[in-house]
Amino acid sequence: MADNDLYMVYHGLLLPKIVHSEESLKYLENFQVKDDDVFAVTYPKSGTTWMQEILPPLLNGGDLTSVETIPNWDRAPWLEETRAALVLDKLPSPRAIVSHMHYHLMPPSFFKSKAKVIYVTRNPKDVIVSSFHFHQMASFLEDPGTFEEFTDKFLSGKVFFAKWTDHVKSWQKPELGDRIMYITYEEMLQDLRGVLSRILKFLGRELSAEALDRVVDHCTFKNMKTNKMSNYTLVPQEFMDNKKSPFLRKGIAGDWKNYFSPELDAKFTAVIQEEMKGSNIRFPWDEE
Ligand code: A3P
Repeated sequence: MADNDLYMVYHGLLLPKIVHSEESLKYLENFQVKDDDVFAVTYPKSGTTWMQEILPPLLNGGDLTSVETIPNWDRAPWLEETRAALVLDKLPSPRAIVSHMHYHLMPPSFFKSKAKVIYVTRNPKDVIVSSFHFHQMASFLEDPGTFEEFTDKFLSGKVFFAKWTDHVKSWQKPELGDRIMYITYEEMLQDLRGVLSRILKFLGRELSAEALDRVVDHCTFKNMKTNKMSNYTLVPQEFMDNKKSPFLRKGIAGDWKNYFSPELDAKFTAVIQEEMKGSNIRFPWDEE
């Protein structure tokens, strides 16, 4: 069972109480999406912080001031979190906004708007490894127990924002047409510049080659790890203990191989495959 002191339940989703409240969710429901808003939507641990680093400079002509001076949670706020009401209305447009919400829980105004969405997916095996460490370092999340125990919770959706498969399937929405772009964390690792160029095209924006190079360089794992505005060292240790595990931990693909026994791998793969059946989505990691 999830710890009621730590989580609230919203339409079946467990949400950490430290940053979610009745008021923050009311704010989300009543939020007026603007046509030029850009959302990065992710299941937790799939590259949200990375997108909070990437989107502001792509939207403002390559200026890195905001990523160097404003914490990620105020620079590209979470729509569902308590900070949203304090900062979102003051953000200059076009706004970069992040969200972990499942599709049907987006505010009504989103569906009527022309706002664009970049949906980032990551190999769920690496998501769970990242999440396991995050649960160990963050006091506002339930103790994950052993990796095997945490896998059971993850697969049954008894973790924040529920099941990975439901999240991913919920955002497969042909009706969004050219309002949505799908990218993977793994593609970003392989060719960050190429992905940023695709995002610019999707957003109908341009940057000079030099400006793009600067943004790419700024958004590498090595450089983000030393950026206080993005590495979560501004959060007091009692909430996030970077000594237990840094938030920007490894930043690689395939770390799951260090955690999954062959038996656990078989079980995990079988559950995910069964739940993704009929969805017609093929991910690069499905071929592994
Ligand atoms: P690891 O724990 O595997 O290192 P989120 O921001 O959605 O919570 O995701 C966090 C994960 O994204 C962490 O994964 C973190 O290190 C990784 N990440 C953040 N910025 C990154 C970057 N520039 N390059 C690669 N990985 C990055």
